Amino acid sequence: MQVTDHVMVNAWSKVLELSKVTPGQKVTILTSSDTHPQTLRTAIAASLNQGAIVNRIDLQPVNGEKSLSPDKLAYVGTTPLTGNTVAMAALMESDVILDLMLLLFSPEQHEILLAGKKILLAVEPPEILARLVPTKEDRDRVNAAGDMLQKAKQMHVSSEAGTDLVCSLGDYPLLKEYGFVDEPGRWDHWPSGFLATWSNESSANGTIVLDRGDILLPMKSYVQSPITLTVRSGYVTDIKGELDAELLIDYMESFNDAEAYALSHIGWGLQKRARWSVLSLYSRDSTIGMDARAFAGNFLFSLGPNTEAGGTRDTPCHIDIPMRNCTIKLDDQIVVNKGKLVE
Ligand SMILES: [Fe+2]
Repeated sequence: MQVTDHVMVNAWSKVLELSKVTPGQKVTILTSSDTHPQTLRTAIAASLNQGAIVNRIDLQPVNGEKSLSPDKLAYVGTTPLTGNTVAMAALMESDVILDLMLLLFSPEQHEILLAGKKILLAVEPPEILARLVPTKEDRDRVNAAGDMLQKAKQMHVSSEAGTDLVCSLGDYPLLKEYGFVDEPGRWDHWPSGFLATWSNESSANGTIVLDRGDILLPMKSYVQSPITLTVRSGYVTDIKGELDAELLIDYMESFNDAEAYALSHIGWGLQKRARWSVLSLYSRDSTIGMDARAFAGNFLFSLGPNTEAGGTRDTPCHIDIPMRNCTIKLDDQIVVNKGKLVE
């Protein structure tokens, strides 16, 4: 269902205020061939309302001919900024970058953030953005959970379906996504509301059983019959199940890359306004599935790269898997109990 420009300008204004955009700051908007025109024009209007100096950089899409999936998160690593010194020079002169294109998992993004620039990604359709405008409460909930995760040495994930996974923590930073960029050098994604980190290399061991209703991204499908993943020393070494498992195996094999099977980010959803069911209501090309990634009480884990965390694993294969009904224990503290947040 569509939203008015008025609603979207107000939504952007809230996000820009939370992101401390002030008069005279340089806001650069990154776009590409599939940027939503309403998101773009309302971002420009709201940024001008804040008194910002606004520029737009339109970049060429990449990887389309390599990826099996039309999803922008399905094939990562090289981006339109790779080798693009002209665009990089402009971004390094900006205060805030509004990424309406999807510049994830790239060394260039890392370089921009290290220089203290802020990057806010926003590529969901306008009505999802408008429904999930971030708040300070979202930030506080994510930060409070982050304080617990920061101290944890071990994560244990279990479920009645058969998941039993243990990994060590502490070597990689936290990823706190709450939907706005209120600190220099901060990257965030509107909409979101989840917490993640990366398990220490080689430390993850056990079994993950994806149960009926768990979600595979970029497939954007709800699992219909269980998929059993065996995890040994940080890598998925075996995938078993019926049709859903066969589809996952075939897709992952297409990358012909052993690093695709590495356990990547792990964490849990904290956004109470995001819903598990939303993915069932959208066509696959119209969303990247942020409700699925963020709904409160999910266990969200990923397979593939760790360049977001400053690591060197830059495989193009990236799979996010939000699961329901899991219990997540940090050392001896339960933070999610059978899919429900422990307050
Ligand atoms: Fe991911």
